[in-house]
Amino acid sequence: MSDETFYLTTPIYYVNATPHLGHAYTTILADTMARFQKLRLGPEQVYFLTGTDEHGDKIVQAAAQAGESPQAYADRISGIFQETWTRLGLAPNQFVRTTSEPHKRAVQRFLQQIYDAGDIYFGEYGGHYCFGCERFYTEKELEDGQCPDHRTAPAFIKEQNYFFRMGKYQDWLIDHIRRHPDFIRPERFRNEVLSFLKEPLEDLCISRPSARLTWGIPLPFDNRYVTYVWFDALINYISALGWPDGEAFRRFWPAAQHLIAKDILKPHAVYWPTMLKAAGLPPYRHLNVHGYWKIEEVKMSKSRGSVVRPLELADKYGIDAFRYFVLREMTFGLDADFSEDALVARLNADLANDLGNLYSRVLKLIQRYYDGRITQSSDNGHLADATRAAVAYVTAAMERFAFSEALAAIWNLVSATNKYLVTHEPWKQDPGDARTKAVLFTAAETLRAIAMLLSPFLPKTAERMLQGLGVAEPMTSICIEDVYPSPVQMGLREWRVQEVQPLFPRIQATAAKPSRAGKESAAVPEIPLEQITIEEFRRLDLRVAEVVEAAAIPGSKKLVKLRVRLKDEERIVVAGLKEHYPPESWAGKRIILVANLKPTSLMGITSQGMVLAAEDDAGRIVLLMPEAPITPGSKVR
Ligand code: MSP
Repeated sequence: MSDETFYLTTPIYYVNATPHLGHAYTTILADTMARFQKLRLGPEQVYFLTGTDEHGDKIVQAAAQAGESPQAYADRISGIFQETWTRLGLAPNQFVRTTSEPHKRAVQRFLQQIYDAGDIYFGEYGGHYCFGCERFYTEKELEDGQCPDHRTAPAFIKEQNYFFRMGKYQDWLIDHIRRHPDFIRPERFRNEVLSFLKEPLEDLCISRPSARLTWGIPLPFDNRYVTYVWFDALINYISALGWPDGEAFRRFWPAAQHLIAKDILKPHAVYWPTMLKAAGLPPYRHLNVHGYWKIEEVKMSKSRGSVVRPLELADKYGIDAFRYFVLREMTFGLDADFSEDALVARLNADLANDLGNLYSRVLKLIQRYYDGRITQSSDNGHLADATRAAVAYVTAAMERFAFSEALAAIWNLVSATNKYLVTHEPWKQDPGDARTKAVLFTAAETLRAIAMLLSPFLPKTAERMLQGLGVAEPMTSICIEDVYPSPVQMGLREWRVQEVQPLFPRIQATAAKPSRAGKESAAVPEIPLEQITIEEFRRLDLRVAEVVEAAAIPGSKKLVKLRVRLKDEERIVVAGLKEHYPPESWAGKRIILVANLKPTSLMGITSQGMVLAAEDDAGRIVLLMPEAPITPGSKVR
């Protein structure tokens, strides 16, 4: 077993709202990553923490509205978070609460330590305070005099308070970020923080007078004040591990990684590392930042009344279908739009069709031909390379938190297996033939590998797939290196196929919520299409091509001249896309080319093919490109 450990945290969520898709998303990512690391390092080497943030004005206000005491209210909502995670099958090692005694003790100790070291002082401060955000805003940060997040005018408050000498650590922080390029990732958030740090860093007000707010942790050196909620909350990441003396702290803190959305970048990228530095503790390893789920282009938020409830979706479509959708749909670091229609489309295409059909087909044939039992036969190496490539790709993608890419790589393996079956057509062959048996053994073996690779992402589905194949080993004891075992290990295998149930039922489009699609009548297709036969479609030779260089064509506003590479061949293609894609944006792009279009002359240049792009009603044009890297010359089917 490796000595390497892995510690991953989510934000601790405010208890002024019940869990929505945004909270569920971060927690699902963390759960997936923790499961993946458990496969890689062993279950004991991984610690996954989530929890709730329960102090501060916001909570007092929400409790008052609910007619409850802050503690009773926090207990209740925190309970709803815990129950939601359990019902979604999420398995953190600990659920931390900031109103727990160990956390309060740790916060007081941390404060005292920094106070004793001289990094906390008493002073007066006047500023624009937003009660929603629980923080002061500088003039510059306000937008039209309003809080940029809540769109309300802040109150001007002047009071005496305690301050943390954050500014003192500005140079150290800049240097640390520069020296560790992946301290904050993806890079755009690192750049954002570095650009923020170009301005002088002010000290941080870390107290609130008890006269105004009692719902907080008292400062150990002055009980007329309670701790500012962010200073309190961030410390959860170490209090939960038993800092300062806890064994878990010793083992896991050196491997700490935080996962957040971009809304709370500053407290995590600026306050927290400087707080740790002042307390003499090493910083975390990585801050991983994802984008927002939006609904019709707007960030989901309770105050705007636009929230998606994760449990409703999981109940309607199944936990794994919901997990698959959110993990596959959002590119880590970018925003994504949520729609139930898109969820149903993914469920039908990727889960019911590609994966579900493959699984049922293989298992049913093994049942029909061999009464459910099949042993290794001589020739099973056909999908070995594709499997190894998938394992390598998934491992590399997960290192970067690229969940969607990891799933795309697994789906490449699913497609390769489907293609392998279509090529060999075991359903048309004689079951007694050794070749037929080898094909089905290989397919079953690859299904086992697919199930193992999928297990961090879709734990229930993976378990069902393995059960269907008759694999008895519990998933937690298997390392990722075993996904594709040596031929010797494989030789010991015998598949005993169990009763085959479909993995994912197809969802009829009408079963989904009408939402935006409801505007059209379901019976009438939106765009009347002339139909063509598959033979007619096959006459098109569509290819992936790589753009080697691009140049403007003198005298033409729209045309751009491209030199593109197919497999071993280069061609000149003229595209009317210059206004959307200027010449300097093309080099290196992999595009889709109609390769057998009759050559035509445009502005005196012979164009050998046509570039495919999509255009919407507003005239916006985007290029069609392969969604994962693939060799130029590959045929589009
Ligand atoms: N309590 C603080 C965090 C303290 S951590 C020491 C807080 N809580 S929160 O309840 O507002 O949660 C914010 C987090 O919820 C985001 O960083 C993200 O993880 C998740 N999300 C909330 N809305 C989201 C979206 N619309 N999209 C994606 N994630 C979102 O801030």
